[in-house]
Amino acid sequence: MITSPNPLKVVLLGAGMAGENLAKEIRQLPNVQLVGVYDPNLKAASHLADIHSAKFHADFDTLVKQTRPDIAAITSSNDAHPVNVRQSIEAGIENVFCEKPLALQMQDAQQMVDLAEQNQVRTSMGFAGIHVGYAKVIDLIHSGELGRIINFYVHTYRGYGFWEQERINARGMISRHSAVKFPAQSGGWAIHHACHLVYVMTRMAGNIQSVLGHLGTSHPNCPSEEVVHATLNFANGAVGTMTDSIGSFRGIRCGVIGTRGTLLMSDDYTKHDDDRIELRVRYEGESNDLVKQLSYDKQAISRFCEFVDAIVHNAPSPITFRQGMENLRICQAIQQSGMRNELIHLDPATVDMARV
Ligand SMILES: NC(=O)c1ccc[n+]([C@@H]2O[C@H](COP(=O)([O-])OP(=O)(O)OC[C@H]3O[C@@H](n4cnc5c(N)ncnc54)[C@H](O)[C@@H]3O)[C@@H](O)[C@H]2O)c1
Repeated sequence: MITSPNPLKVVLLGAGMAGENLAKEIRQLPNVQLVGVYDPNLKAASHLADIHSAKFHADFDTLVKQTRPDIAAITSSNDAHPVNVRQSIEAGIENVFCEKPLALQMQDAQQMVDLAEQNQVRTSMGFAGIHVGYAKVIDLIHSGELGRIINFYVHTYRGYGFWEQERINARGMISRHSAVKFPAQSGGWAIHHACHLVYVMTRMAGNIQSVLGHLGTSHPNCPSEEVVHATLNFANGAVGTMTDSIGSFRGIRCGVIGTRGTLLMSDDYTKHDDDRIELRVRYEGESNDLVKQLSYDKQAISRFCEFVDAIVHNAPSPITFRQGMENLRICQAIQQSGMRNELIHLDPATVDMARV
């Protein structure tokens, strides 16, 4: 567990659902303190600030002067990330955490990266913490135990429900997800959500050379894609396929074919017992499988927690804005490829996407 001699002070930009969740997480962390909340929706800002005994103010610079934060944590809607990053850096905050996606446009992302790097600001992206099953798969791939990776797939099913079925879903939420309803604000499902899978896959196999995307919806009037499928060609020769579907139940499936072994991993979210995550490996030439049941430890895999740890230990960030920008470039290519039905080649990336 992280510790720091003086409490690290955090100002939160964005008091919606993700902001509330992060505020709760901050409360659990030793020596990290939420000191300020900023949101143009003053009611939301004051409500969250009151719960956590923090300050709020309609003017961000005034809030920063009053609270002197070490970290800006940006949990605003996707379209607000560029302005929030700029105002945080211009206010002199040295560590900036931004929820995914970094931006909706590459031009904005490039400006954010340049500004952070020129000002030597430590940055981190808020992709969902690496799922414990994916973390194990990443370790096995990088250990070389599976040999050279020829092919792999990652599928995620989110269980919100398709556009066609407007209803309260099993989780008590309206199935028409706001990211699908308002693509101008979210970037659409390929940018807003498939970015998580792209992040996981680049951690598994590194940089991507070309993509072929396919987009699906349940209804012609749906404003965004709801199923994102893509074939990703990696610079190391591996081929990965991904599917991210908003509909039906929640679950994860992943498979890896390596020259020395084949791996299958699944997480049945519908099961609530301890053995819901199963990892099965059969090494070439063996007739028995190695089977592991993994338990889900949410606290241990939080991305913000990793960022605080990096600040305290003056260590590299878990995932920088430059990596966030590359992730956006890949997601945009998948979306464009799906719309145009053509393979898109990417120029070589300026950052190693497999590096943590
Ligand atoms: N990492 C994850 O797993 C994960 C999960 C959910 C959401 N998110 C991300 O978190 C962010 C917020 O999502 P949410 O579900 O909380 O959305 P939300 O709509 O519940 O909240 C967004 C909040 O941002 C505020 N906002 C808008 N413009 C702003 C600005 N200029 N400055 C400050 N605040 C502003 C809105 O008033 C609103 O209160 C998004 O970027 C989303 O992609 C990440």
